Amino acid sequence: MYYNSLQIITGNANRRLAQGISDYLQRPLADAVVDRFPDGEINLKVNVDVRGSDVFVVQPTCPPVNENLMELLIGIDTLRRASAGRITTVIPYYGYARKDRKDEGRVPITAKLVANLIASAGADRVLTIDLHAQQIQGFFDIPVDHLYAFPVQLRYYRQLHLQNLVVVSPDVGGIKLARAYSKALNARLAVVDKRRVSPEATEVAFVIGEVEGMNVLMVDDLIATAGTLAEAAATLKGKGAQDIYVAATHPVLCGPAIERIQRAPITSVTVTDTIPLNDKAMECGKIRVISVANLLGEAIRRIHKDESVSSLFLETRAFPTL
Ligand code: R5P
Repeated sequence: MYYNSLQIITGNANRRLAQGISDYLQRPLADAVVDRFPDGEINLKVNVDVRGSDVFVVQPTCPPVNENLMELLIGIDTLRRASAGRITTVIPYYGYARKDRKDEGRVPITAKLVANLIASAGADRVLTIDLHAQQIQGFFDIPVDHLYAFPVQLRYYRQLHLQNLVVVSPDVGGIKLARAYSKALNARLAVVDKRRVSPEATEVAFVIGEVEGMNVLMVDDLIATAGTLAEAAATLKGKGAQDIYVAATHPVLCGPAIERIQRAPITSVTVTDTIPLNDKAMECGKIRVISVANLLGEAIRRIHKDESVSSLFLETRAFPTL
């Protein structure tokens, strides 16, 4: 399929990341206005011709989630009505993902609802990173390219040359990701298993695997309130772990997250720029941001050129500028 040109458009969710992608691709961001009418409704106008173009809309649906989601939907609608050739939504962080099944009665499945909204608005493809659950890919009836921040984080931790290392998943759901890190770093694997002892009693955390006297790299897809991390770190320390490092993809960092990270026995935390850091997080000396702009930029280049994207999943050497 031939498209006139590659265009990158962004809403307000993460302009800095969009700029990083545009720098990687050496193409300016398309001129567009995304602001508000006096009553708070979204006012969007694309100021360049997109007819027949291969357009990539960069917009994570991070907090403020509803504002960012509506900007994305209205952006897709605008581009469809402007006769864009193909619209790829670049959603580095896919919000509303944690409700991906009915785990009790009378609750929604928001991960599916949002997928329906995006496809109905007119998106042709989705490019995303570290979905909360892999199966969310199947909630879309349009192609989804699902990338991992793993190779970008891995590169950083390889440079640290951490000795005597064990990779830990802070919950049972994250074992697969932790196993990938442990294999790549030639480290051991452990899991914090939280169990509710009775309906009334609080949770007790067990550690499956050896952590005593070892440095820990704890890995997770996202940090929201940091409750999971802080509790897991305290448990690991209680079991005699040495330094605890954390690698997480999406810095949602809401509520008491920063205070918890500050107080927790954690040496440092690496997150990516799928979501911009809020002011409080920027002042937290423990948090370091690793950019996924080049990873996304390279994926966009390959999608545009109809080249394989799957080789980006694990291979950082495929794009040496990363
Ligand atoms: C759980 O399934 C996720 O991987 C995260 O561990 C969790 O969502 C983080 O939430 P919080 O930071 O609020 O504990």
